[in-house]
Amino acid sequence: MLNSFIFVVLPYAALVMILFVTPYRFYTNRLTWSAYSTQFLEQKTLYWGAVSWHYGIILILLAHLAGIVCPHGMERLLGNQQTLIVLESIGIGLGLLALFGSVMLLLRRVNATILKQVTFASDWVLLFLLVLQTATGVYVSTFMRWGSVWYLHTAVPYIYSLLSFRPQMEYVADFPLVFKLHVGMAFLIIALLPFTKLVHLLFFPYRFLADPPILYRWRSRG
Ligand code: HEM
Repeated sequence: MLNSFIFVVLPYAALVMILFVTPYRFYTNRLTWSAYSTQFLEQKTLYWGAVSWHYGIILILLAHLAGIVCPHGMERLLGNQQTLIVLESIGIGLGLLALFGSVMLLLRRVNATILKQVTFASDWVLLFLLVLQTATGVYVSTFMRWGSVWYLHTAVPYIYSLLSFRPQMEYVADFPLVFKLHVGMAFLIIALLPFTKLVHLLFFPYRFLADPPILYRWRSRG
């Protein structure tokens, strides 16, 4: 029952949300189609949180994606023991960096009273989920060793089965609960994307490239 919910219901529910709610938000509420900036209110903790979070998580998600897009290439790469150890060590380092960043971002909201007015329920839910998602990822990576390899033979075929609309949860059904939570929360985060500021993932500010340059004038002379 739990397996069916996590491995079949949640991923397709997430797909429906992304396909239908995202365009709805874009066409009805386009001004909210980004992350609400709070940099003017607080920027010290934001710097440590946002920089660590983005550098860590973007590279880790690219590694998740590489296994899906190019499983055979990854298998060959990780077949070399030294490469495997180096890449897993870098992975754990990046995971810890992302975890540090997400905790800083959460603590920033808790501690800076000036941010309370611009912090909504969706921000709390999202930040909690991101911290938990990153923590479970680092846990899996540390205590269920060589995840980068078994991922290719379990999670990747499972994801392919989802993409072909013939879900085969047998690939992942016997994993420990912490891994199931990691996968379940990933789909929950994707499902919540159109309702939260995470929607900024889909915002590519390429039009800025065509904007005329901004001219700054100093008010003081010299
Ligand atoms: C919102 C989406 C996701 C996020 C933000 C995320 C985040 C993370 C993080 C931070 C780590 C730790 C990396 C490290 O320390 O090396 C990790 C590891 C891992 N994740 Fe995810 N993850 C996501 C989705 C998924 C999904 C959908 C699966 C499988 C179906 C998955 C499977 C794994 C596995 C197997 C590891 C261990 C990798 C290793 O040992 O090198 N993740 N994830």
